[in-house]
Amino acid sequence: MDHTNFFMFPKLEGPIAPRMRFRGKEVLTWSLNNYLGLANMPEVREADTQATKDWGLAYPMGARMMTGNTEYHEKFEKDLAEFVQKEACQLLNFGYQGIMSVIDAIVGRKDVIVYDAEAHACIIDGLRLHVGKRFVYQHNDMASLEKQLVRADKLAKENGGGLLVITEGVFGMSGSMGKLKEVTELKKKFQFRLLVDDAHGFGTMGKTGAGTGEEQGCQDGIDLYFSTFAKSMASIGAFVAGDKTVIDFLKYNVRSQIFAKSLPMPLVIGNQKRLDLLKSRPELKANLWTIVNALQSGLKEKGFNIGKTQSPVTPVLLNGGWKEAANLIHDIRMNYNIFCSIVVYPVVPKDVIMLRIIPTAAHTLADVEETISVFEALKVKLDTGVYRNANVPVFG
Ligand SMILES: Cc1ncc(COP(=O)(O)O)c(C=O)c1O
Repeated sequence: MDHTNFFMFPKLEGPIAPRMRFRGKEVLTWSLNNYLGLANMPEVREADTQATKDWGLAYPMGARMMTGNTEYHEKFEKDLAEFVQKEACQLLNFGYQGIMSVIDAIVGRKDVIVYDAEAHACIIDGLRLHVGKRFVYQHNDMASLEKQLVRADKLAKENGGGLLVITEGVFGMSGSMGKLKEVTELKKKFQFRLLVDDAHGFGTMGKTGAGTGEEQGCQDGIDLYFSTFAKSMASIGAFVAGDKTVIDFLKYNVRSQIFAKSLPMPLVIGNQKRLDLLKSRPELKANLWTIVNALQSGLKEKGFNIGKTQSPVTPVLLNGGWKEAANLIHDIRMNYNIFCSIVVYPVVPKDVIMLRIIPTAAHTLADVEETISVFEALKVKLDTGVYRNANVPVFG
């Protein structure tokens, strides 16, 4: 059986939009974290193109600290810091390696880390670099966090170290929010710093789009706010923001930035353009939420289980094993021309099939309607054993 480029490494072709091409056919695409629809917006494409014409990919050469700094990098950092209500900010070349390196830089062997069990792989890899102790708390379980903080606090005090708590703003699989407000409340009992990875919350959550801390009214309690540009900004790069003294320390200690070339100009200028649009066009976030609300309430009305999402990330939980999952995803992509991601065991429990839908501002209410009626048809087939009895298709 050769499933190359179907389940794994599929190729979505054409400009990034709700309608793209997959295996020669047009598909309605619900898999891209292009939340605000910026990816293919003419102003964005124009800014990317112009910056590439003006600067190319080379400038500036070298790491920021040495020869790779420009006034554009600094202005962008200033604007980002202001937007997420922090004193200062540091640009990172990539989210994954950036947050790993931030974790590595801010803790020493005497410090103790307490983190959410469902933290993203980049956080887990950051923890792997930590030579001191770490404790995991059950996902979003505040009693479990408090229990681990008691243990961690005792150890840190014995060692003469500090405590760092790490969680996410929006969890990218379930769509649930980290309980940031409750975590920050625990600062009354324990002395710790809080690092939040808000990859899915930046641009989508909060009144101005400043993220999940703004949404929950606790941005002040987040000591280090991190986001990638790979989702609502539809680009590459990332940033971390916080108090000036901490960011100054990071600028001299984040190894993935000190020993690597800085972001090239098309990314700095292109990302600045995206931030400016995010700030000046609140209708982008409003459009996103119109689609999110229509999709989520429509699915719920038809009896679908969408878990505990509180964000645009929309999981649809169905019952079935791997064979049913394979047949269903073939049917939805090839016959109903809808492309969404599918998640199976071990990410979800055995016999659960999770279809993960990412609505964006670029989708329409007609897209939502079409999708819900396709999902109804799929559910009937799933429940009546059509996918259990069919042979998994073979692909060339
Ligand atoms: C929660 C979270 N953090 C970090 C990253 C990594 O960011 P990047 O793609 O910029 O490396 C991702 C995925 O993109 C993510 O989902």
